[in-house]
Amino acid sequence: MVKKAVIPAAGYGTRFLPATKAQPKEMLPIIDTPTIQYVVQEAVDAGIEDILIISGKGKRAIEDHFDRNPELEARLEESEKDKLYNEMRHIGDMANIHYIRQKEINGLGDAIYYARHHTGDEPFAVLLGDTIIDSVIPVTQQLIDAYDLYKSTILAVETVPEDKVSRYGIVGGEKLSDNIMEVTQFVEKPPVGQAPSNLAIAGRYILTPEIFRALEQTPRGKNNEVQLTDALMLLSKREKVIADTIEGKRYDIGNKLDFLKTTVEFALRRKEFAEPFAEFLKETVKGLK
Ligand code: UTP
Repeated sequence: MVKKAVIPAAGYGTRFLPATKAQPKEMLPIIDTPTIQYVVQEAVDAGIEDILIISGKGKRAIEDHFDRNPELEARLEESEKDKLYNEMRHIGDMANIHYIRQKEINGLGDAIYYARHHTGDEPFAVLLGDTIIDSVIPVTQQLIDAYDLYKSTILAVETVPEDKVSRYGIVGGEKLSDNIMEVTQFVEKPPVGQAPSNLAIAGRYILTPEIFRALEQTPRGKNNEVQLTDALMLLSKREKVIADTIEGKRYDIGNKLDFLKTTVEFALRRKEFAEPFAEFLKETVKGLK
């Protein structure tokens, strides 16, 4: 049973400077909701009640966000802003959220290693704190279903266009069914034409405690950081690592262009903005050469 989730959120967010100089990129809002709140909601929707957020220097705002704010709640209650009051109460009660600080920013693999005492000998879900995946069935739920079948490490992957493989971590291996592959190859940002597939790792995982042994044996890799992908490669030589092609659309908020696209798509889906925002976009596009 997968009961716990780990959300790494300690990174510098250098791709989003200067916004991330003094605030966590995971708190960048899509319309009015911080990215990490969508991520926590996905875990909760998949039945997870225990979440460990890997935090770090300059990330206090995340803890404050998921805490109660009694003064604000009292003010909203007094002014009869019931909807907002309920929303604020809900954020404080979404899940049992724990925090641990990554002392030095040494990469995603290093961040995950901080979870070992919290997750113990249980499998756990990992959701990147800067990545929203929009789907009908929460992607974490899709992975848990695959875990129940294979009882081993599961990676969420998405199909990306052939000419864009060099932007992603790509996996290759043996296809077991339409959406399931046993992974034997991991290639970080392969040149176009040299990728083993067009399946990109999508920021959601179910990991088994074996990952901690693999992380201990993983030398520093790209950017002199401990890369989770390198540990997974090691792990795949010892036990099954499964790639599950998920149903859903991935939004990487840590990249400015994706952030803009996400904001537009999400705004067009919001009742109160859909019409006037679509009008604005049409007018704007008309003016483009
Ligand atoms: P990224 O590689 O996208 O985050 O990691 P980053 O390093 O902050 O990004 P750039 O390249 O500098 O812009 C994905 C997730 O893993 C967390 C990040 O906070 C992000 O949510 N992370 C990354 C950690 O928690 N610790 C790390 O050492 C690295």
